[in-house]
Amino acid sequence: MNIAMLGTGYVGLVTGSCFAETGNDVVCVDIDETKIEQLRQGRVPFYEVGLEDLIQRNTRESRLSFSTDPAEAVRRAEVVFIAVGTPQVSAGGADLSQVFAAAETIARAMNGGKIVVTKSTVPVGTAARVKEIIEAGTEHPVAVVSNPEFLKEGTAVEDFMKPDRVVLGGEDAGSLERLQSLYEPFMRRGNRVILTDSRSAEMSKYAANAILATKISFINETARLCEKEGADVEQVRRIMGLDHRIGPHFIYPGIGFGGSCLPKDIRAMIAMGGDELEMPLLQAVDRVNETQKGLLLEKVERHFGNALAGRTLALWGLSFKARTDDMRESPAIRVIDGLLQAGARVRAFDPEAGKEARKRYGDRIEYGDNNYEVVAGADAVLILTEWNEFRSPDFARLKELLHQPVVFDGRNLYEPAVMRQQGFIYYSIGRGRG
Ligand SMILES: NC(=O)c1ccc[n+]([C@@H]2O[C@H](COP(=O)([O-])OP(=O)(O)OC[C@H]3O[C@@H](n4cnc5c(N)ncnc54)[C@H](O)[C@@H]3O)[C@@H](O)[C@H]2O)c1
Repeated sequence: MNIAMLGTGYVGLVTGSCFAETGNDVVCVDIDETKIEQLRQGRVPFYEVGLEDLIQRNTRESRLSFSTDPAEAVRRAEVVFIAVGTPQVSAGGADLSQVFAAAETIARAMNGGKIVVTKSTVPVGTAARVKEIIEAGTEHPVAVVSNPEFLKEGTAVEDFMKPDRVVLGGEDAGSLERLQSLYEPFMRRGNRVILTDSRSAEMSKYAANAILATKISFINETARLCEKEGADVEQVRRIMGLDHRIGPHFIYPGIGFGGSCLPKDIRAMIAMGGDELEMPLLQAVDRVNETQKGLLLEKVERHFGNALAGRTLALWGLSFKARTDDMRESPAIRVIDGLLQAGARVRAFDPEAGKEARKRYGDRIEYGDNNYEVVAGADAVLILTEWNEFRSPDFARLKELLHQPVVFDGRNLYEPAVMRQQGFIYYSIGRGRG
């Protein structure tokens, strides 16, 4: 199938590469010329496990190419995906300007009947609006299918290749059938394509993200109560997770959820309710999360008696979660901003997100080449991302390097008793009073 992918970010690039991998002819388009130039040279603009190989192989075998010319890509395509960004507007709703701009570009380039697929996360009714925009600009027939994406950064290629489910929402049977055949190679473990109407498809993506965000805020609120009452949230979490109705996933306490999806998607869902339908549950989920992002900073301030000026704090981890370089809405941002504001000196290490941090903070913070380099002489270390390499460090070396043996663990990576035994002052989340 000839495919045009409008938007070559985390979703567009993974989707386009995976479709090329299964034998389709894919052109990935972006308005960002630097990104397209990098990709043409075989360089991937962000870190995602397995993606570089996929891109290099499919480019070499001429199934995948990159362009800044959407019109040309649309003209040669049977299926056009819209995978552009839908960031948050200041009032909380989704900014659809990139989606509508892409729809207008498609309308202008139409040279025959096409299937247009909304892959971006968009509020209910957007597929219908995209169809209207395209139809207003062309005589050629267009079918619009809503196909929300559920991949996770860090395991995006794996998620796309072996999806839990593929949702196709639309009203035109022929185009749904075509898309079903496009996804067929990814269904080898059994068919998990759900055909539905476009409005339900659009809602399903928000609802799925909202329940994940709710679980995280729930466990974080429980962690705070555990701290107040002297219970251990890690024990509570394990006990809860063994109940099949609850399950073990997404109930890890920490310093709040971030990333480009959960925060903006729950706010977009609240905005969808508008004045007519208040959504107190999701409002609370957002509020709990914002409070949680400040928790580690509170502990740091308390420990140092609000005297952070001139102190050196080392940070392990900057990305919003492990296995990605994405810092969008990362809890690390709240921590760094707070520390800098208090006059502290910040030294950070992240296995992949250093480049992103440099874009945001320049030389306002210092960067190390490994996790031990940044702790040398520091007054404390703060663990902000659950990267595997932080899970069992050389504690003796860590203690020797630190100016004071203080660890603020925002991801509960270590055992409090073991840390105390080794002479650390150890703070974590929801494990007894601290
Ligand atoms: N990142 C994720 O993990 C994830 C997962 C599921 C769904 N989503 C959703 O997918 C969508 C894309 O997310 P992302 O993380 O890939 O965003 P991103 O910001 O990484 O990429 C979007 C790309 O679209 C490009 N773009 C903007 N307007 C364009 C236009 N008119 N024509 C061509 N390109 C254009 C931008 O330059 C950018 O490179 C969002 O709606 C997001 O909510 C993201």
